[in-house]
Amino acid sequence: MNGKKIPPYLLVIVGGTGDLARRKLLPAICRLREKNLSEFYLIGAGTGKKHNDLTYRDFVARSLEEEGVDIGAMGDSFDWLYYHSVGGGSVEEYKSLADRVAELEKKLNLSGNRVFYLAVPPSVFPNAIKNIGEVGLNKSAGEIKLVVEKPFGQDLQSARELNALVHKYFDESQIYRIDHYLGKETVQNLLAFRFSNAMFESLWNRDRIERVEITVAETVGVEHRAGYYDRVGALRDMIQNHLTQLLTLIAMEVPTALEADDVRHEKVKVLRAVSPISTDEVIFGQYTRGAVQGKEAASYTEEEGISKESHTETFVALKLNISNWRWQGVPFVLRTGKRLFKGITEVAITFRRPPVSIFRQFSIKDIQPNKLVMTLQPNEGFDLFFKVKEPGDSYKLSTQSLHFEYSEVFGRIPDAYETLLLDVLRGDQTLFVRADEVEASWELYTPLLSHSFDVYNYASGTWGPEEAEQLLDGEKWCTM
Ligand SMILES: NC(=O)c1ccc[n+]([C@@H]2O[C@H](COP(=O)([O-])OP(=O)(O)OC[C@H]3O[C@@H](n4cnc5c(N)ncnc54)[C@H](OP(=O)(O)O)[C@@H]3O)[C@@H](O)[C@H]2O)c1
Repeated sequence: MNGKKIPPYLLVIVGGTGDLARRKLLPAICRLREKNLSEFYLIGAGTGKKHNDLTYRDFVARSLEEEGVDIGAMGDSFDWLYYHSVGGGSVEEYKSLADRVAELEKKLNLSGNRVFYLAVPPSVFPNAIKNIGEVGLNKSAGEIKLVVEKPFGQDLQSARELNALVHKYFDESQIYRIDHYLGKETVQNLLAFRFSNAMFESLWNRDRIERVEITVAETVGVEHRAGYYDRVGALRDMIQNHLTQLLTLIAMEVPTALEADDVRHEKVKVLRAVSPISTDEVIFGQYTRGAVQGKEAASYTEEEGISKESHTETFVALKLNISNWRWQGVPFVLRTGKRLFKGITEVAITFRRPPVSIFRQFSIKDIQPNKLVMTLQPNEGFDLFFKVKEPGDSYKLSTQSLHFEYSEVFGRIPDAYETLLLDVLRGDQTLFVRADEVEASWELYTPLLSHSFDVYNYASGTWGPEEAEQLLDGEKWCTM
């Protein structure tokens, strides 16, 4: 982050009253304003007529308090916030939004720099994009940017259609497809870790690495997203975007520079090198009753808004093979699920064992391999596990670790949305997903969407169905 002042912007959050806006975007925007990096104004847009500018300011103040933002300390009267209803989303209603934008730009003496942030249900993306374009909001004397929340499409076909629609009104250089995982400091640190530590980079290949595990485990169930989640499931909701983004950062080649297109070229190359996924190497699961961290939990089909007959997967584990010189033969095993034993996001790299054991009392199988475990949440940092001899006469090996934890060294880590919004304002697309990248990712997973997988039950509070173990060829998952 450089501290250069950003020119004034008008931010329009379509969906400015929603859960994402309330919990993530508005707190992040207020923190950015506090840092005084930019003078920006915001219009929250929604369907309802329930707000005017004043009640919207109250709504934002309340939301910030609920999220633990100290608004007293900010001394903010929120007079930079406005509300506008786009009702049912007709062209006329967007025309009235365009009039409001023009009026505010004139009144506030802004030069036409605008960000449109689509924080609406995905079914609304096409209409919002089309209307923003049709009423000419995508044209001004300043810089115009469009931010689109996840999920970008439901399969390859819909992602292509959405890309075509966006490109009708915006140039790719104006488009910011969000995958908020990329805004996490620790995810960005994967690049720093890999490309500034030559020691690890020289080990980062099929000669030294036996397998890579990527786990995103949640303890929560579907919560308030029942209707949406039951239609999409874990493969679309988590694997296609978050876990696959982590995979590309772990597996990519060294980019020429840390510039948006250099990084994104390399990520796309990884996706194109992944072999078609074998359906035998995909395990689906669904949670049943159990206890998560001592609290009783209902089964998925008992959740409010979920059909008793639902076969939607709340857990997916699958194996990917990247067919290139660096990774051929190294399995990448991805795993995600709800209501699992604990909430954790981590990448575990298992290195190869020594070729033979010189210790008479241990076979080579008894010598645990070195592991590098990069924890992206909750205790951001890493552990490098290695073997030492325990003191004493006989040779007894013990596993120890080198441990680094972000918060112990650096204190508060900025929220992902704070980082991403700042990048949007600065025009840095490195942490956003490019059109060909999102399509390459859907290309990989779309064939699985029409396959009828067995959905294995797992008790809430466990690590998912036992069947997922078979993906590790007799080894154990790193996080158990
Ligand atoms: N919530 C999260 O933690 C989260 C995390 C990652 C990604 N996302 C993504 O963020 C987006 C929003 O999610 P959310 O959880 O905030 O949803 P939400 O709580 O249901 O809020 C939806 C927002 O969109 C507005 N809206 C609905 N239909 C509209 C339309 N036709 N035209 C204009 N505005 C409309 C609503 O306005 P009214 O209130 O006036 O109806 C509300 O402000 C989704 O794409 C979701 O996948 C959310």
